Amino acid sequence: MTEPKTMLDVSGLGHRYGGPNGHLAIDDLNFQVGTGELACIVGPSGCGKSTLLRSISGLHRPTSGEVRLHGDLVRGVPSDLAVVFQDYSRSLFPWLSVRSNVEFPLRARGVGKAERRERADEVLEWVGLTGAARKYPWQLSGGMQQRVSIARALACRPALLLMDEPFASVDAQTRFELEDLLLRVRTQFESTVLLVTHDIDESIYLGDRVFVLSKSPASIVADLEIPLGDERDQITTRESESFVHLRSEVARLLRVRTAPATPADEQSADERSADSREKANAHR
Ligand SMILES: Nc1ncnc2c1ncn2[C@@H]1O[C@H](COP(=O)(O)OP(=O)(O)O)[C@@H](O)[C@H]1O
Ligand SMILES: [Mg+2]
Repeated sequence: MTEPKTMLDVSGLGHRYGGPNGHLAIDDLNFQVGTGELACIVGPSGCGKSTLLRSISGLHRPTSGEVRLHGDLVRGVPSDLAVVFQDYSRSLFPWLSVRSNVEFPLRARGVGKAERRERADEVLEWVGLTGAARKYPWQLSGGMQQRVSIARALACRPALLLMDEPFASVDAQTRFELEDLLLRVRTQFESTVLLVTHDIDESIYLGDRVFVLSKSPASIVADLEIPLGDERDQITTRESESFVHLRSEVARLLRVRTAPATPADEQSADERSADSREKANAHR
């Protein structure tokens, strides 16, 4: 069977908390993620990123629109979807060893004992935790615990891996290591990944493309291809001209779209100055 080109199709997706007069967290979101793509969504805190991921993963039913995973309408939590959350300390079971944590969702999916062990060992090797298989999560550093979460997600061989600010709770050096780990494993497992972050640099460093969200209620204000190639390096990629240019572009988009409009003038100061720059250029 040939794989579908579009893995995730989100159309008209909206979610309002607390009934018809409640808080509109996301509004009319439309985007697609292709099979094998690593797409990042960047947006300010509170704009609705986690709401979006909860809607995609079937953890709650969106109040409007629909989500399709390889063509199938998402109604509950799909069995071939895995989520990695920011808060690794609460997502791992402290009473289970690292290996048992990784095997846990496989057991729930009815995978036999020998295959569970084999798959767990494979992914633990990939995240560099072979030696920690018998340890317990509380014996590991934060970065190592998050590697266990990633291994657990990958062991399920998900059609789509969703990540909700997965590296936001670790120190900067560990964050770089985990970002590079993600880039390696997505190549190895040919994973399709949708990762949300509030960190502009992270979204560009990791993404094949970046969707920029407006402030709440979130809508997509830009869909950028990231032409940085497959080989990325924390130092040389981040100092490259394209990276610096993209960073400014995303920052500008976020600032324009998140600046509160004054009642007298709906147009933000940034848009006004961009307009006047354009006019000045046109007159040259
Ligand atoms: N269960 C909930 N009930 C009511 N409002 C919520 C709930 N969860 C989130 N919100 C609100 O929805 C908005 C978006 O939240 P969230 O999706 O968590 O944003 P982000 O992940 O981008 O920081 C916020 O204003 C938040 O307060
Ligand atoms: Mg969130």
